[in-house]
Amino acid sequence: MAKLPLKLKAKLSKRKEDNFIRNLVEPLDLMDFTSNDYLGFARSKTIFSNAFKLLKKRGITSNGATGSRLLSGNHSLYKELEETLAESLGVPSALVFGSGYAANVGFFGSVPQRGDFVFFDELIHASIRDGIKMGNAKSYKFKHNDLEDLKDRCLSKCNGTTDEVEIYIVTESVFSMDGDSPDLRKLSNFCVQNGFNLIVDEAHAIGVFGEMGKGKVVELGLQKEVFASIITFGKALGCHGAAILGSGELKDYLVNFARSFIYTTALPPHSIATIIEAYHYLMSSKGVDSRERLKENIIYFKSRVNLKGLDSFFIPSYSAIQSCILPGNRQVGSIAKNIQDVGFDVKPIFSPTVPKGKERLRFCLHSFNTKKEIEKSLEILSYNLNVYG
Ligand SMILES: Cc1ncc(COP(=O)(O)O)c(C=O)c1O
Repeated sequence: MAKLPLKLKAKLSKRKEDNFIRNLVEPLDLMDFTSNDYLGFARSKTIFSNAFKLLKKRGITSNGATGSRLLSGNHSLYKELEETLAESLGVPSALVFGSGYAANVGFFGSVPQRGDFVFFDELIHASIRDGIKMGNAKSYKFKHNDLEDLKDRCLSKCNGTTDEVEIYIVTESVFSMDGDSPDLRKLSNFCVQNGFNLIVDEAHAIGVFGEMGKGKVVELGLQKEVFASIITFGKALGCHGAAILGSGELKDYLVNFARSFIYTTALPPHSIATIIEAYHYLMSSKGVDSRERLKENIIYFKSRVNLKGLDSFFIPSYSAIQSCILPGNRQVGSIAKNIQDVGFDVKPIFSPTVPKGKERLRFCLHSFNTKKEIEKSLEILSYNLNVYG
């Protein structure tokens, strides 16, 4: 194969110098404080075998979708899944994408138009940023979870715009790196009062928050106020894929203009069968139990952090994501390694994935973590914090 161009080699070397080189490693066979499998669904044999039974019942034996959903790939399970989601989540329609990344890129790359404005939380996920970059609207960030800052920016940037200009406001209901949440009700009121379109990414809330784990938009009854929300199936649902929830017209628009929906092979039937069965499982008593155990673990984790006097290191969060700020890629990397060496899979998050000075250990909690594991991992963290001063 041809050699890597010098400019690219230099970029890689710089990454190494900055202690931010990314490597592919096989998952560590350690106690899981890293995966997004918050409810343990990815390891559920029941979901696995139910998906297989569903395929068998429907006589589906194909290995792949064979094409884009607009050509040969729109197999019958899609309709079933999208109707189930829309009805269960109280929205007019759902459109399934291959991943949350594809959903966000497809939405933000096609919906906001030239002359429109997009205001996004400064900690918004990379997939949303990438989507915005693909579109032609003007975009501005606002301070994290800061409605007053958003109001100021809207006022200064959008003053005097005509009715034809659409304004889109984007947030996450649980932030992927900080684990915290905006005041969605206030944000939604602000958008309704001003005729702005609110978009909420629920990737880390679906399965965890709200009645039966239906997310924060449902918890607050905001389905009618929100323009669109994005749910993903690769986290608490333990499988893969995503859906955009919104009006029937929005669905029609995305089917026609979202390039990441159109120009890609559809998810195969077994992926959709798995999502259907994972969603049914979430709605069952097993889902309730898993969510209860996760909640207990979050409360337990927070109480132990408090007892060990570690509160000041952690970003306040009531979600499964608990981040301990340890500035500096080198420091956070070496503390993570010390914790991994004694059996706990806790990952460091380096800058520039998070802002410089906000490097962190990101503890992802699960329904299946034991109290003993939580206690022990925090003990080691506490010891290391003392050592590093
Ligand atoms: C907030 C948020 N949105 C979207 C995504 C992308 O979802 P997926 O992993 O399904 O591509 C992620 C995944 O990390 C996320 O955290």
